[in-house]
Amino acid sequence: MFILSALLSMVCVFGAANAWEPKCDSAGFQIIPKPDCSGYYLCVFGKPVPMPNCPPGSIFSNSANVCVPENSIYNDCKDDNSDRPIIPDLGPLTIEEQCQINSNALIPHPTECQAYYNCSMVYKYIPRYFEQHLMECPYPEYFNAETKQCEHFENVKCGIRQAFVNGCDYKRYRCPFSNCIPCHVRMPSCEGKEDGINVYESRLWSPYYVICYKGRFVSSGVCKGDSKGRTQFFHPDKNQCVPLDEIPREHGGEMPDCVGKKDGNYPYDFGGCDSFAVCKDGQFLNAVHCNAGEVFDTFVGKCELKEKACGPCGGLINC
Ligand SMILES: *[C@@H]1O[C@H](CO)[C@@H](O)[C@H](O)[C@H]1NC(C)=O
Repeated sequence: MFILSALLSMVCVFGAANAWEPKCDSAGFQIIPKPDCSGYYLCVFGKPVPMPNCPPGSIFSNSANVCVPENSIYNDCKDDNSDRPIIPDLGPLTIEEQCQINSNALIPHPTECQAYYNCSMVYKYIPRYFEQHLMECPYPEYFNAETKQCEHFENVKCGIRQAFVNGCDYKRYRCPFSNCIPCHVRMPSCEGKEDGINVYESRLWSPYYVICYKGRFVSSGVCKGDSKGRTQFFHPDKNQCVPLDEIPREHGGEMPDCVGKKDGNYPYDFGGCDSFAVCKDGQFLNAVHCNAGEVFDTFVGKCELKEKACGPCGGLINC
């Protein structure tokens, strides 16, 4: 289209400054012919920008909005009077047009708060889900339309732009190819979760948990070993790291199995003579740790000094 090529060729010298100044509407984009038909002004959001004159031998046509040969039927300059109304608004400028006017422009995305167009950034290959000049703030930042930079989400007013809370709604974290680790695994959702430590849905019954703030995923963490250095898992109901003997066996834990057992004290299946399991009503109630020097005696069902204890843990042979 002519206007684009005219914009592209804007490197040139403009004619001597004219006393005449067009009146621009404040919105969008307008073309206002010069009264002598030598060229036109482009109004950009209320600001008149002089465009190069038509090439020699041609004249700007007010009805067609292009330069036409001076002595052709398209030359409508003579019929024109200088207070002729303005050529209709051609609508808002496209991103490409805005970038041609200002090649360093930073333009907020119209509907997504984390996205913006950076005219000085030109993709050779446009990444999947993106378009030319489109960039995104790192999660969970948003693009501040006033300061024209990415900022902490609590400091940005998104207005009508949608403010994504979930990192996987940012295009940059979506899987660019088919066998990538799904985004919700790499960047779990914190939507609707309390601030602080929470269950890692895609890594249930593992040492992993997530840390959330205002519905945003902040980081993931791994349960440390307990005071005895034993592995701990994150318990989703207790919302904390617990030793494996508090994790049910069907979830990879070592919780004593009390199903079908009479009420009483039982040795641990997974090693450990220094404690025993208390079963009640077929359920594991709790673990009891023996005092120093004591072990669990399976015959009496309580802790005894090792040399006086019977059973696999005790020192006595004949019980
Ligand atoms: C815009 O792109 C340029 C060139 O790639 C880069 O130097 C600049 O940091 C970018 N600005 C923003 C806000 O992304």
